[in-house]
Amino acid sequence: MTVLDTLADRAPQGFSAAPSAQSPRLLQLTLDAATVRAFLDATAEWPIQALEYKSMLRFRVAKILDDLCANTLKPWLADTLVDRATGGLLVTPEGLDEVAQADDMVKVATAVAHCIGRSNFDAMSGQYYARFVVKNVDESDSYLRQPHRVMELHNDGTFVEQDTDYVLMMKIDEQHMQGGNSLLLHLDDWAGLERFHAHPMACREMRWAAPPSKNVGKDVYHSVFDVDAEGRPVMSYIDQFVQPRDFEEGNWLCDLSESLESSEARLSVPVPIGSFLLLNNHFWLHGRDRFTPHPDLRRELMRQRGYFTQRQTLANPKNA
Ligand SMILES: [Fe+2]
Repeated sequence: MTVLDTLADRAPQGFSAAPSAQSPRLLQLTLDAATVRAFLDATAEWPIQALEYKSMLRFRVAKILDDLCANTLKPWLADTLVDRATGGLLVTPEGLDEVAQADDMVKVATAVAHCIGRSNFDAMSGQYYARFVVKNVDESDSYLRQPHRVMELHNDGTFVEQDTDYVLMMKIDEQHMQGGNSLLLHLDDWAGLERFHAHPMACREMRWAAPPSKNVGKDVYHSVFDVDAEGRPVMSYIDQFVQPRDFEEGNWLCDLSESLESSEARLSVPVPIGSFLLLNNHFWLHGRDRFTPHPDLRRELMRQRGYFTQRQTLANPKNA
């Protein structure tokens, strides 16, 4: 077998990948319509509830999807998610684009996520994923569902004890929406990275506490910055849930936030209905742009966060 044969063996089958319109770091992965159809046929016997009740089935649907891609999908995903140069995907399953297909959307996203890892328990929903609706009026206790303001750039999983290696965010429905793009920033594109990472405060343990809706009872302690297995900076940061101890911490965090929010490298990415972002949560930050108010505004999202099981970013992953 020649090198070319080996490369041909690994060429994507059943899906395609290319740089996104927004950045060469964010790749557009398209699952072919035929792959999606065959996947839904092959998994028709399991409604979403089956995947909720039996964790092992999440891995079976992942295998079915990878098999339909001639086993080129799983290694490609595992390599890409830890590749520091990219590590971010906008995934579009062809043929899934309306809210009536919501369960199919969750199933496809579950299969993709379980090719690279396992989704963590989501304390907000009590499931391995969470679906939630954003409306014009909101009475929640965090900015998650509040439409008329920017949700600042952050990492997920800052106030839980498990590793949160990846974050998956899917658009299930969208009506009367203007604005509200996903905002993304790759750490290596941020001009402030070196300055903030070199600061003594970067490695100071800080306290992180979530509001009641997150159903997380216990505070956790960690620094904003760490390094990956190769010594490159990674972050675990969110402005809403960090509880600075004193004047110095509070003001350093405010400087950090201002630097992130004013970054010219921030990407604004529209996510179509049925598509999802899948990001390495250690070196990509995400947020959401503001929307224009509308009385009938409705947006439904699905998220999964989890840990890698194939390839790793962290030097000492907790689940390896
Ligand atoms: Fe988030």
